[in-house]
Amino acid sequence: MTRLQINEVAPRDGLQIEADFVPTEAKIAFIDALSATGLARIEATSFTSPKAIPNLRDAEEVVRGIRRRPGVDITVLVPNLRGCERALACGVDEINLVMSASDSHGLANLRMTPKQSLERFTEILAATQDDRVFVNASLSTAFGCPFEGEVPESRVIELVERLLERGVQGVTLCDTTGMANPGQVARLCEAVQERWPATPFTLHFHNTRGMGLANALAAWQTGITRFDASLGGLGGCPYAPGATGNVCTEDLVHMFEQMGVETGVDLDALLAVSAGLPELVGHDTPGQVVKAGKADRRYPMPKR
Ligand code: COA
Ligand code: ZN
Repeated sequence: MTRLQINEVAPRDGLQIEADFVPTEAKIAFIDALSATGLARIEATSFTSPKAIPNLRDAEEVVRGIRRRPGVDITVLVPNLRGCERALACGVDEINLVMSASDSHGLANLRMTPKQSLERFTEILAATQDDRVFVNASLSTAFGCPFEGEVPESRVIELVERLLERGVQGVTLCDTTGMANPGQVARLCEAVQERWPATPFTLHFHNTRGMGLANALAAWQTGITRFDASLGGLGGCPYAPGATGNVCTEDLVHMFEQMGVETGVDLDALLAVSAGLPELVGHDTPGQVVKAGKADRRYPMPKR
């Protein structure tokens, strides 16, 4: 069975939507603790406009300040050429280009339609040609848009094709506001893997309607092995109304490990980092296993 690759997105998707700015030193300590838990990849920050995402305005300091561990790729979210240049100057392993599958979310989040994003990506791919950086692209609202509703599967397939023909190496299908259901997920995952069997596809779920883990399981059953997840279930897009947290990393790892699927992650170490989240962000998190304990937790019999 193929080992899973977990991309931890709490430092980016999680911290971007918090009410308070997390101090740079605390972000660096958080990412350093995460990178010691066996995660394959960490999305450390985003190189976006500081006006659009003020919480991540310290992107350079964060990437330059973290300890780089062999085997843990550092990826960052990038919306445009300016963001790409800033990211490359910091020596990241991967850039994760972001665009929407729907026009209205694209305009709300990035002030660009998908067509305009694709035009920008052409320039970005030219700028990365001499660099060894891996170029992934995340397609927001791939399972539904909070403004437009249904996003047809044919449109998603078409955008994936446009991305790959420009030279993007991997694609993340994002359920930005938790609209996906397991049947829909299975259909899209099957369709893209059948058409592009050699392309690494990652699935990015939000648990907004309680379907996050079910969707991840449905994707895995079709052969998907790469998942974005956020420690404690933090996360959400500030420009998507109603967005709430990502599928929770430790709950996802716990589910797969219980099923005998290797994740490469030391769950106890991950839970210890998760237990520190309330202090980092100043509130409780939706993570469940960190509160309930792993399924092998045992209680003493009640006294009669
Ligand atoms: N990094 C830093 N600053 C940037 C930037 C980048 N990647 N891209 C643009 N800017 C700055 C410009 O210098 C300009 O600054 P000024 O007002 O001081 O002159 C300002 O942002 C506006 O630039 P413009 O090119 O007109 O961009 P915009 O206002 O159309 O914004 C984006 C477009 C994509 C930069 C912005 O919408 C954005 O960063 N969105 C990110 C959304 C996001 O991350 N959402 C959550 C993840 S899904
Ligand atoms: Zn997200």
